[in-house]
Amino acid sequence: MILPPQHPLSAGSTSDSRLVRAYRGERSDTTPVWFMRQAGRSLPEYRDLRVGTRMLDACLDPAMAAEITLQPVRRHRVDAGIFFSDIVVPLKLVGVDVEIQPGRGPVFGKGYADASAIAELTAIDPAILDEKSGPITEAVERTIAELSTTAPAGRETGATPLIGFAGAPFTLAAYLVEGGPSKDHLAARTLMHADPGAWRDLMHWTAELTGRFLRTQVLAGASAAQLFDSWAGGLSLADYEQHVAPASARALSFVHDLAYETTDASGEAPGSTVPVIHFGVGTGELLGAMRGVGADAVGVDYRVPLDVAASRVGDGVPLQGNLDPALLAAPWPVLDAAVRDVLRRGRVAPGHVFNLGHGVPPETDPTVLTRVVELVHEAGA
Ligand code: CP3
Repeated sequence: MILPPQHPLSAGSTSDSRLVRAYRGERSDTTPVWFMRQAGRSLPEYRDLRVGTRMLDACLDPAMAAEITLQPVRRHRVDAGIFFSDIVVPLKLVGVDVEIQPGRGPVFGKGYADASAIAELTAIDPAILDEKSGPITEAVERTIAELSTTAPAGRETGATPLIGFAGAPFTLAAYLVEGGPSKDHLAARTLMHADPGAWRDLMHWTAELTGRFLRTQVLAGASAAQLFDSWAGGLSLADYEQHVAPASARALSFVHDLAYETTDASGEAPGSTVPVIHFGVGTGELLGAMRGVGADAVGVDYRVPLDVAASRVGDGVPLQGNLDPALLAAPWPVLDAAVRDVLRRGRVAPGHVFNLGHGVPPETDPTVLTRVVELVHEAGA
């Protein structure tokens, strides 16, 4: 794999960042912090920019996607940008009829709930995504151009890493089978048992499509990759292992060969691979299995304390998380204590990246987020 010299993986510009070091299981001067859904409706500058533009159109406008990605980095001085996109973008790019309805989520022109509908979907060659990914590549490149000269809080120089992301095959399938959002993903859970062959085909196809989406972002300049299996918490461990884990492993295989090419300032040997983080909501029972599909670090939701999560994922696994987003609206002394508690519990893991246990609620006061970043950086050493 030949990457351009300015790519963070070739230039080594992010390989000794707090973020990448934490995902490798190393400690830095302080604990790195970013927030899931840090780009979005909690920011007035985001709401202003989005007026009159539909969500998926915003994702496919490189200048707008880059600007939205950068907004929370400038404002909060977090340790990472997360690429502004959506888990359904690769589906849209290969021609699937999908829109994102405000307040609701992804809605499809039809549901893919039986073998014939799935056969129609999987007839699309996932490899065509690579030809359609120009807007993604351009948006990531524009973002990296600014992040390469933006140091996180407390650092004079250096780059802020960009995290690329994709939806895990199950979470995408949960939407595809239902044709839209659902409470407990019943139709998907039925299909995996009622027609395991069709289910396998759907998962295999989705894994390749979403894996290629993730790979595109890393090739364009992302320094880490997060797989969101937001709805996997609805599954038993047995169903997860049998019907889901192989497809998630396949999705991640699309980035496992991508590695830092240079020796970094910390003397890290060349060739360490791009760190992969795996996150889901309500996945306390699945944490070990989610690590097992090929993740370097595990994202934990707010239900399981990090010290308990550490014993479930096994020794030596960096963790990310896990402040309950509800506490962002609590009085500051309550929030302050909760942040410190997360930091204290996170010390049992070899590396810890502070985050929320799920996304930033849209009504969050953004000045509170900035204050949390400051607190984590002061207290997190
Ligand atoms: O800052 C970031 O975290 C980056 C951007 C990001 C978005 N979607 C932007 C977005 C990320 C990482 C996602 C992933 C995503 N999308 C997931 C996995 C993460 C999770 O939250 O569990 C899921 C399940 C989706 C599907 C989806 N897209 C939902 C459920 C919604 C919310 C619908 C709503 O309006 O409440 C979306 C839309 C969406 N994706 C928005 C944003 C900023 C809101 C759209 C808007 O601002 O109008």
